Amino acid sequence: MIKIALNSEKAEIEICGMFEKEKNKIEPLFYGKEGEICIIPFENKLRLALGLGDEKTLTIHKIRNWYAKAIKEIKKYPIKTVMVTAIETEKINKKLMLQAMLEGLYLADYNYKGYHTNSKEKINREIILNGFDDIEEKQTMINQIENLIESINEARDMILEPANFLFAQTLADRVKQIAKESGLECEVLEEKEIQELGMNAFLAVAKGSAHPPKLIVLRYFNSNGPILGLVGKGITYDTGGYCLKPGSSLQNAKGDMAGAATAIAIMRALAKNHCTVNIVAVIACCDNVIAGNAYLPGDVVTSMSKKTIEILNTDAEGRLTLADALTYIIEVEKIDQVIDIATLTGMAGRTFGSLYTPAFTNNDTFFMQFMQAAEKTGEDYWRMPCDPRYHSYIESKVADIKNTGEAGTITAAMFLKDFVKDTPWIHLDIAATAQQRPAVFEYATDCPSGVAIRTIYEMVQQEPILKA
Ligand code: BES
Ligand code: ZN
Ligand code: ZN
Repeated sequence: MIKIALNSEKAEIEICGMFEKEKNKIEPLFYGKEGEICIIPFENKLRLALGLGDEKTLTIHKIRNWYAKAIKEIKKYPIKTVMVTAIETEKINKKLMLQAMLEGLYLADYNYKGYHTNSKEKINREIILNGFDDIEEKQTMINQIENLIESINEARDMILEPANFLFAQTLADRVKQIAKESGLECEVLEEKEIQELGMNAFLAVAKGSAHPPKLIVLRYFNSNGPILGLVGKGITYDTGGYCLKPGSSLQNAKGDMAGAATAIAIMRALAKNHCTVNIVAVIACCDNVIAGNAYLPGDVVTSMSKKTIEILNTDAEGRLTLADALTYIIEVEKIDQVIDIATLTGMAGRTFGSLYTPAFTNNDTFFMQFMQAAEKTGEDYWRMPCDPRYHSYIESKVADIKNTGEAGTITAAMFLKDFVKDTPWIHLDIAATAQQRPAVFEYATDCPSGVAIRTIYEMVQQEPILKA
């Protein structure tokens, strides 16, 4: 993890952002093109010249991205101290510039520890800031960014954790620990309580597993305003069940709890930074595996909302667990609006690649608040249709609805929409953006992106979240 030093002069390398117009200034072969990197000896240390392109088109998102690229280059060497010098430009507010630089540096400095017998010792790099003395409350800002990125890194660790270590019980234990350390209230409901609540859609998915399901609830109340709800898909391993996935698709099956990790990270960051908000996160956590008693295609289950569901495909398990989690968060936790985050459909990636996260809503104002935040964080979302005509795609002959239909990403959302009724709701299908292939951001080339964490965190900061 990077640490910021405010009053040190010495650094082994200095990152110097340079525009195209400054080409040849330090090195004849450096052109200042966007993302260009050139390391050159300079006054007893090294200088990393970082191309920023045309000054007129510079944005904080480019800064975040190129500084991430710079630190990835530095990570190749045993360099411990890095000086980051303010970019000379009137175009970007200094505070936002520093924020973007720190986000890029921290986000790209992540390494998954893993299980190597001889693991390499991790270098704790120190960042020395140069030219930012005029920013007031710099230390508070740095601490807040640190807490946010540490939370994202926790989410990344969880997503990458193998399923033989991370299953419902161990995830619940981990969340309890996070809650204790960050000042969140945590409640874990056991199988019996889940049964008593009538969460039979969730239980159907969990039925075949040797690991009992857990309903994890995190609460943080620190405002007089309404309560925001987060529901994260928490499938610790998705084999597809009897609609078994092909072997090549199973390599990533352990990451099907990225939505849950996202919700946990948001809660951790908000509590650590003592943000003014009321927020509850719910995770219906289990794995989707095959066994003699596992659920079968053709089964009909009665969800917590009493709506009956025909299960056509056991691989469309996420919406079943989410349906009950949404009913629970609305009816029991009495939240005022809700965002669900889920690695829900492979079709999301086939449509958008990893560039855009498909987003659905039933409330324009709520969605606008979300998109305003996304503009600040540089994450791309694409609003998808919630056209009621799609509902006919999931009408069933034997139950109220069925769990699959044509237009995969949209019908998955239509399914969820039935369970939120009138509650303002946003659904984010992060199937292809939680782990980006190919990576969109420099900080997400070989690890989970943390998509939606910064945006929902930002949304909570900037807006009095809409009262239903
Ligand atoms: N977890 C998967 C979706 C997924 C696929 C996430 C690839 C990340 C990468 C989900 O449970 C699933 O299997 N969805 C099916 C739905 C289908 C059976 C209607 C899919 O997308 O194929
Ligand atoms: Zn599935
Ligand atoms: Zn899944």
